[in-house]
Amino acid sequence: MCGIFAYLNFNVSRERRYILEVLFNGLRRLEYRGYDSAGISIDSSSYSGSDLNRQIFTPPLVFRQEGNIESLVKSVYQDVDATDLNLEESFSIHAGIAHTRWATHGEPAPRNSHPQTSDAGNEFLVVHNGVVTNYEVLKETLVRHGFTFESETDTEVIPKLAKFVFDKANEEGDQSVTFSQVVIEVMRHLEGAYALIFKSRHYPNELIACKRGSPLLLGVKELAEEAGIGASFNDTKFLSSNGQPKELFLSSDANALVEHTKKVLVVEDGEVVHLKDGGVSILKFDQAKGKRGGTLSRPASVQRALSILEMEVEQINKGKYEHYMQKEIHEQPESLTTTMRGRLIRGGSCKAKTVLLGGLKDHLKTIRRSRRIVFIGCGTSYNAALAARPILEELSGIPVTMEIASDLLDRQGPIYREDTAVLVSQSGETADTLNALEYALENGALCVGVASTKAYTSQIVVMAMLALAIGGDLISSQERREAVIDGLFDLPSKLKEVLKLDQEMKDLAKLLIAEQSLLVFGRGYNYATALEGALKVKEVALMHSEGILAGEMKHGPLALVDETLPIFVIATRDACFSKQQSVIQQLHARKGRLIVMCTKGDAASVCVGGSCRVIEVPQAEDCLQPVINIVPLQLLAYHLTVLRGHNVDQPRNLAKSVTTQ
Ligand code: F6R
Repeated sequence: MCGIFAYLNFNVSRERRYILEVLFNGLRRLEYRGYDSAGISIDSSSYSGSDLNRQIFTPPLVFRQEGNIESLVKSVYQDVDATDLNLEESFSIHAGIAHTRWATHGEPAPRNSHPQTSDAGNEFLVVHNGVVTNYEVLKETLVRHGFTFESETDTEVIPKLAKFVFDKANEEGDQSVTFSQVVIEVMRHLEGAYALIFKSRHYPNELIACKRGSPLLLGVKELAEEAGIGASFNDTKFLSSNGQPKELFLSSDANALVEHTKKVLVVEDGEVVHLKDGGVSILKFDQAKGKRGGTLSRPASVQRALSILEMEVEQINKGKYEHYMQKEIHEQPESLTTTMRGRLIRGGSCKAKTVLLGGLKDHLKTIRRSRRIVFIGCGTSYNAALAARPILEELSGIPVTMEIASDLLDRQGPIYREDTAVLVSQSGETADTLNALEYALENGALCVGVASTKAYTSQIVVMAMLALAIGGDLISSQERREAVIDGLFDLPSKLKEVLKLDQEMKDLAKLLIAEQSLLVFGRGYNYATALEGALKVKEVALMHSEGILAGEMKHGPLALVDETLPIFVIATRDACFSKQQSVIQQLHARKGRLIVMCTKGDAASVCVGGSCRVIEVPQAEDCLQPVINIVPLQLLAYHLTVLRGHNVDQPRNLAKSVTTQ
């Protein structure tokens, strides 16, 4: 789980300083994927015409640094000063690669950072996102062939294997072995998930990218076209060189591309993308079996169309906010509106209230016949599914069971052909969830994916819409469905209202700043809110926090209660309200230090003897209340983190997507 990025300029003069900044900015955009260490590789000096050989035999430069991107930036500029590298030196063609790392194999240290290299002369360099599962076997073989390893990474086998393949071809007299032939041979030996970018001193000004399982995009910027002098762009033109100035980018995600170009190619599994002489050629293995291994046959050349990114640079900047987490919390009214746009229908000529989920319509009949729906996810995505479970059960009448992806795999839990498995993931990259998907497919279940771009609240809304669609044929629940649809339409404005609690939650955070622990009690629709709220406090504020099912309180957790431990109780209006009132009574009787979240106007009904702190939130349709209730907890986690002096956008040891098991 890492971010990879590359930049190649062709027929356009770019100074070293510019090239470095493009690479650094690419990494900054990908830093959310890991920030344990970072590295880049650039060329040592430009060549002119006949001096081509000099370039071939001059090893590319590699800079690697423990810590986040800014540590790398600092160290590169220090090195540049120390080595007299000229930042103003121009390259009319240059290929640079970059990496930001979330450590899986080997501690964060320069030797374990990428680019990983084949040898001291940097004949082959690789940046990698993913995990090579058969690296130990490959390493043993390479060691037997005289290779020595300096890192503990799984990645190091890749450049070494490339050198092995290259040397062997040359020894056998094949001096014309191409860069893509080398990489294809390497790919044949790799198992696991990967997106890779290769750079080589043997193939100056060329880059090769390939992938299986991990995400990768190519961005194409045709400069001549921008200046109005080149041929107009079409879908396939980019595949070959037309001699026009170009900038080409490779990236783990679109965030790092959008400031340069919106023309992208989403690289598919089994594809090998070769950037050479301003052109792009793509080879594809026609039998890339499965995502995580399998035999690869002979690749064939393919033509692919570029797509246009529907994304603006402003979306990925912090704008008026101090932190990305703060921005994401405050943008939820808009993200929910976008999630529902075109999918929820209310009014029109037939005055119908309905939901349209295009991708699902052909499967609805099968899903409705399922014996069981199984929600599968990890972390926040699991919590979002848990929040949506009651409404899905209610509207569909089908039992819904919950599975944490890793636990399902550990147990090899039963999944049947009559099941529908709903895989929930924000990134779509989580290894545990992807493995669970494969497992569910192998067991014959119908699998449905629920992805969302703005995590928790959007995921709940997507799954509420899923429940509406699955239960859409039942006349008995028509009224309830319409109420849920009205509730969904009202959510963005209610979210705006609940966001006004920002200052109140900051004040609460000030009170809790020095606490060691926070318990969060919820039940019914809001058991998930308790789990998710506690997860947020834990992961960003680095404070122990536990979400507890309130119904379980007297079966153990009550023993923890005294006048010092802060306890957050979610007691908004729904069918469980009176039960939560008695939980509050019991906690109060044990002198619990209570913070109670209740529906606006309910303070007196929840706060026994006026002794607790009350957070009042707007009321939503009961099954949608978790979307509102999580917001104060998100704000609390955010403010606690900032006040405790932690990095809210880079929680310790974490990365946004967990692509390893
Ligand atoms: C917590 C968080 C994680 C993810 C989990 C699954 O804030 O983000 O718990 O939810 O790693 O990730 P996705 O949803 O990408 O599959």
